[in-house]
Amino acid sequence: MRDLNEGTLTNETIRAVTGGSDKRISQVSEALVRHLHAFIREIEPSQAEWEYGIKFLTRVGKQCSDTRQEFILLSDTLGVSMLVDAINHRQSEGATETTVFGPFYVENRPQLPLGANMSPDETGTPLFVSGTVRALDGQPIAGALVDAWHSDEVGHYDVQVGDDLRMRALFRSDAEGRFWFWTVRPTFYPIPNDGPVGDMLAAQGRHPYRPEHVHFMISAPGQQTLVTHLFIDNDPYLDSDVVFGVKNSLITDYSRHDAGTAPDGSTCHRDFLTLNYDFVLNPEAE
Ligand SMILES: [Fe+2]
Repeated sequence: MRDLNEGTLTNETIRAVTGGSDKRISQVSEALVRHLHAFIREIEPSQAEWEYGIKFLTRVGKQCSDTRQEFILLSDTLGVSMLVDAINHRQSEGATETTVFGPFYVENRPQLPLGANMSPDETGTPLFVSGTVRALDGQPIAGALVDAWHSDEVGHYDVQVGDDLRMRALFRSDAEGRFWFWTVRPTFYPIPNDGPVGDMLAAQGRHPYRPEHVHFMISAPGQQTLVTHLFIDNDPYLDSDVVFGVKNSLITDYSRHDAGTAPDGSTCHRDFLTLNYDFVLNPEAE
């Protein structure tokens, strides 16, 4: 392994990285070197460009914290997250489609009873969200864990503005697979663009916006966990989502209501919106 040159370097590197006992690591390492070397051969970076690339990835790492995941943003904005999602969800006809997880999920979210308001202190338009969770055969799933999270009315997630968890909660579906809760209307928003990913988007001539949506993660025993969003029709960014996450089957719309009695029998003293969607889970692979 001496006097390696442009012609011999790739094969020698592949030989060196594939000697471990784990076959998957060998496979991944070989593909990584093969594609990385092909990329370098194609773009022929100057020494300064290579250094810029190293510094860029260093900045991405340094931008990460407990509440900011710049690497997920990088993956999302390069279409990688949606590609991984597509590969892992070649799902059955009839099941709800998946989309990106995003960087704003918080494990430590509150668990609330059905019907609770997960955004009691927000000033946005009241929104009543309801739906069912069903299996592929149409049977309602009782006790499904329904996680929901979204931005506030100006497009910020709680973790972007402070330590209080807001506009997110975990609910459990009832015996008929139903769930319902109150929150406030979110809005379209820019992904955090004050870091290296924002610089990349600007350099690529792209806007940083995602169309208005509510995130859901729904799980139940024997079913694949569903990670998805509900998008709102006629949003200006539906056709240019910066993370490529929009699917037609996930676009829905609010119903608009005057102040008065809400679907859960409570009284809403302001005009409010309702959003209803029925989710269908895929069975876990045998
Ligand atoms: Fe989001």
